[in-house]
Amino acid sequence: MIAVLAGDGIGGEVTTEAVRVLEAVAARFGHSFEIQTGLIGGVAIDATGEALPAATLALSKRADAILLGAVGGPKWSAPDAKVRPEQGLLGLRKTLGLFANLRPVVPHPTVLHASPIKAELLHGVDIMVVRELTGGIYFGDKTRTATEAVDICRYTVVEIERVVRLAGRLAMARRRKLCSIDKANVLETSRLWRATVERIMPVEFPDVKFEHMLVDAAAMHLLKRPRDFDVIVTENMFGDILTDEASMLAGSLGMLPSASLGAATRGGLFEPIHGSAPDIAGRGIANPYATILSTAMLLRYSLQLEAEALAIEAAVWRAVESGALPADLATAGAATAAAAITTRAAGDAVLAGL
Ligand code: IPM
Ligand code: MG
Repeated sequence: MIAVLAGDGIGGEVTTEAVRVLEAVAARFGHSFEIQTGLIGGVAIDATGEALPAATLALSKRADAILLGAVGGPKWSAPDAKVRPEQGLLGLRKTLGLFANLRPVVPHPTVLHASPIKAELLHGVDIMVVRELTGGIYFGDKTRTATEAVDICRYTVVEIERVVRLAGRLAMARRRKLCSIDKANVLETSRLWRATVERIMPVEFPDVKFEHMLVDAAAMHLLKRPRDFDVIVTENMFGDILTDEASMLAGSLGMLPSASLGAATRGGLFEPIHGSAPDIAGRGIANPYATILSTAMLLRYSLQLEAEALAIEAAVWRAVESGALPADLATAGAATAAAAITTRAAGDAVLAGL
């Protein structure tokens, strides 16, 4: 069973297209996927008062994989809000133990013009960012008084080891390069991170060439020489920030899928890295490709259906190649804006490619 949690804003529009693609893949390859839907985020707050209702958590625990749209929006973002949509997503990741967030960045050769980065720097870019997802400053104790606010950043050795090992295994299956990103010149958690990487890599992954990079320098090198990166592993907040930056290499946030995995392959959470985009929600113009590509990762990582995953990825690339570009790709950086297509038309283009 696949749980579909559409969430807020454009979440419903993009997951609808992704589910159509999943159903088409099921038909073509002779599977039948049972889909069950649940509430998360702002829509869940409106319906139940909670961002992650017990029923959604129970559904997610039963699921073989979870497909999520996006959470958040101005309606639930008042500075004094007691419950926030984001707590639903963070709670789901934490409760399910999904400690590794895989965010592949592969610019499509026909839409390099959509990137603000020069095309000659983008050819051949193929990066896999592994973001630690259940530790660090997002999950440490928080306090707030009228005159002071505190967020604690905390990491244990075990939390670092497991995500570094996962990144090491990914590197072995790719170009065998690992860049670990931290801020070890300032942060104690980064010094523990760096020491752990240094202990594990040479012993457990002697064939992987690894390096450390400070996060500020990494933000620069990602734009200056993106081709040099293979696998990146980094802590939660740095990974959040760097992947929004890296999405510009692919032309748009609307192109980046993600997989959040725990110790077991079953039960992963798959979602685009973009947010709920309240400014364009309900207009049918959101780019569904990141969510559709997330279903490919779902099939690959949680259901072990590699051929099906490749079929979806090929179909998305074919759609992009054929010029089926939603507004974010059609207008960005183009000398003359191509006609932008709707969310539904983008879904149709992928179905045609399948
Ligand atoms: C992401 C998002 C989330 C995060 C928010 C919505 C809590 O930005 O998945 O990158 O910070 O992890
Ligand atoms: Mg983010």
